[in-house]
Amino acid sequence: MSFLSNALARVKPSPTLAVTQKARELAAQGRDVIGLGAGEPDFDTPQNIKDAAKAAIDAGKTKYTAPDGIPELKQAICAKFARDNNLGYTPAQVIVGTGGKQVLYNALMATLNPGDEVVIPAPYWVSYPDMVRLAGGTPVTIECGIENGFKLTPAQLDAAITPNTKWFIFNSPSNPTGAGYTHDELKALTDVLLRHPHVWVMSDDMYEHLVFDDYTFCTPAQVEPQLYDRTLTVNGVSKAYAMTGWRIGYAAGPEIVINAMRKIQGQSTTNPCSISQYAALEALNGPQDFIAPNNEMFKRRRDLVVAGLNAAQGITCPVPDGAFYVYPNIAGCIGKTTAAGTKIENDEDFATALLEEENVAVVFGAAFGLSPNFRISYATSDEALAEACTRIQRFCATLK
Ligand SMILES: Cc1ncc(COP(=O)(O)O)c(C=O)c1O
Repeated sequence: MSFLSNALARVKPSPTLAVTQKARELAAQGRDVIGLGAGEPDFDTPQNIKDAAKAAIDAGKTKYTAPDGIPELKQAICAKFARDNNLGYTPAQVIVGTGGKQVLYNALMATLNPGDEVVIPAPYWVSYPDMVRLAGGTPVTIECGIENGFKLTPAQLDAAITPNTKWFIFNSPSNPTGAGYTHDELKALTDVLLRHPHVWVMSDDMYEHLVFDDYTFCTPAQVEPQLYDRTLTVNGVSKAYAMTGWRIGYAAGPEIVINAMRKIQGQSTTNPCSISQYAALEALNGPQDFIAPNNEMFKRRRDLVVAGLNAAQGITCPVPDGAFYVYPNIAGCIGKTTAAGTKIENDEDFATALLEEENVAVVFGAAFGLSPNFRISYATSDEALAEACTRIQRFCATLK
């Protein structure tokens, strides 16, 4: 009998965390590594948010809170959904968790039974399929190729739904592609869901505020109000407010799901960190004016990276609408051999050789369910990005 849980055999460690760790180790050995694996902004949490956290400590807000979050924050979340998404929720329909990751995990744990299927467009955020498996469900992934901008078509969604489908996980702008669904594209998907009333929608809106050019963010319950009663809308402060370490995410949806999630939280983490909740309160209620200049900076970096990658032989890089990732296709590099003599059979070989030979850490596409690609997080300095592009161009130019 194994000491470890059988559930553990169903999941693999996060590949993005593994790449980040490997890059750190090589850097510690003195190698000049450029790490483009981690998905977090490179700027600091805004000062007003840090001050709110310090004030919370000084005011003794350092005790357990209600499991689903402090009332002020839940109220602020309701106001945010009304302000940004035209969605009306009461505090009873809201839960705060330890990052968007825990909120998504709790939702799946609270609803999945063996045999339940969850439709996940690929490429996907690495954690969705593993979370579904941990919760005892079955992920049903659908490959959404570069030819349709990495987006799911209504016909693909329709074909993937079975009587066992419980959730459809939707993520726009997407990690890892940065692709954003337009209102019309999303409406075409929600039309399909209207024909399948047993399917619920889990919308992961984590990159809502990180959008570029004329792309306008939209979310399923807003685009199709008839889905309001079967949509869980998930969001958080990690990305837009540079608060990845504070661990605050939240969700709004029907009370039946929120109450079930609260029950799980009450028996696991009790409540998200009290101090972080006061910081998140300031994030949502305080000035939002730093978001636009940040997006300008990200857009500049996006353009730099897209141009740099498209200049590399064998690489095609589409222009993303949001988030801070690009997901170039490397079909033109597969089957070739590197300067050091490594044959590139797949995108994992490409990423490994790129790290070994040029000291650039990227995450291979297979980790996200669509190959041959890799993901770059461009939330790092212009200088590092420019140098990384030079190294990738050199790497590709020497492939034979
Ligand atoms: C698409 C997506 N959803 C959810 C999360 C979780 O974010 P957090 O747990 O930091 O709130 C991430 C973080 O990388 C993400 O990229």
